[in-house]
Amino acid sequence: MPSTSSAPGKVYLFGEHAVVYGEPAIPCAIERRARVTVTERDDDRLRVSASDLTLDGFTVEYGGVDRRPDVDVPTPLIEAAMGYVDAALAEARDAADRPSAGFDVEIESDIPLGAGLGSSAAVAVAGIDAATRELGCDLDPGEVAERAYAVERTVQDGQASRADTFCSAMGGAVRVEGADCETIDAPALPFVVGYDGASHDTGELVAGVRALREEYSFASDTVAAIGDLVRRGEAALADEDVAELGRLMDFDHGLLCALGVSARSLDEMVWAAREAGALGAKLTGAGGGGCIVALDPDDGTETALSLTPACAETFRAELAREGVRVE
Ligand code: PMV
Repeated sequence: MPSTSSAPGKVYLFGEHAVVYGEPAIPCAIERRARVTVTERDDDRLRVSASDLTLDGFTVEYGGVDRRPDVDVPTPLIEAAMGYVDAALAEARDAADRPSAGFDVEIESDIPLGAGLGSSAAVAVAGIDAATRELGCDLDPGEVAERAYAVERTVQDGQASRADTFCSAMGGAVRVEGADCETIDAPALPFVVGYDGASHDTGELVAGVRALREEYSFASDTVAAIGDLVRRGEAALADEDVAELGRLMDFDHGLLCALGVSARSLDEMVWAAREAGALGAKLTGAGGGGCIVALDPDDGTETALSLTPACAETFRAELAREGVRVE
């Protein structure tokens, strides 16, 4: 019997990049999900097919001694996507103590890849949950989050915070500071996402900020200022003060620009949102290209973004109250 799980993507309300240096961050899960279906095989091979990604669909089949994949799309793409799937399945085998279990895996996702919406974390979380259940082992969402974090750490050469994976596993708004992760109360937030159609290399952008911090003391002051801003944001969330959240998002985007991680397309979308009456707008995730997130209860931002040449796609994204779940 196949097992299917889904897990949400996320936006950063505040705190990306600074979270890497121990400052708090507040990511929020959004109703865009990755669904992973896992069926145990009677051999030790692995077959993975993916569809509905921003990429064209692909199928990979491999196993046996040399584990050389038989693929129908170019290798770098496969390596990136397969790294997460492979590591997630390894975590599931380890959790269930079934080191040689083979699987058929089907991935469907409506989260753009590498765009700051946590697609890889959602695939890792849903994959671990589905594969462990398929092997008769039930993990609670906290355990799934911890194993998914191990996946990201492995695939991203140690450059990962717990933010994406914890948020995807638990759902809602979460606060992450180093190894301390907790879910926090949040009102229904009127998120609008703008996507420029590009993807970014998180590791490269993180390395850029690290270099800037080493060279300029005011870059480390900027990281610390983001931390202060996140603490103000926590108070605004607790007070359900959405207007103040918007002002702080604008401020956060300015600080991220100072750290060199914005891009013309992201700035254009941020300004289009602000001029259309958004309460606030900022890039989300590593930056460089990908997505912005704005707060707007009305249609203005979506309309303005759909008319902005830099914007390839815009959509409203409800806060996903539920994290990983059985489908
Ligand atoms: O763009 P994403 O979804 O990979 O987010 C990266 C967020 C960073 O804070 C820049 C890095 C991290 O691991 O927290």
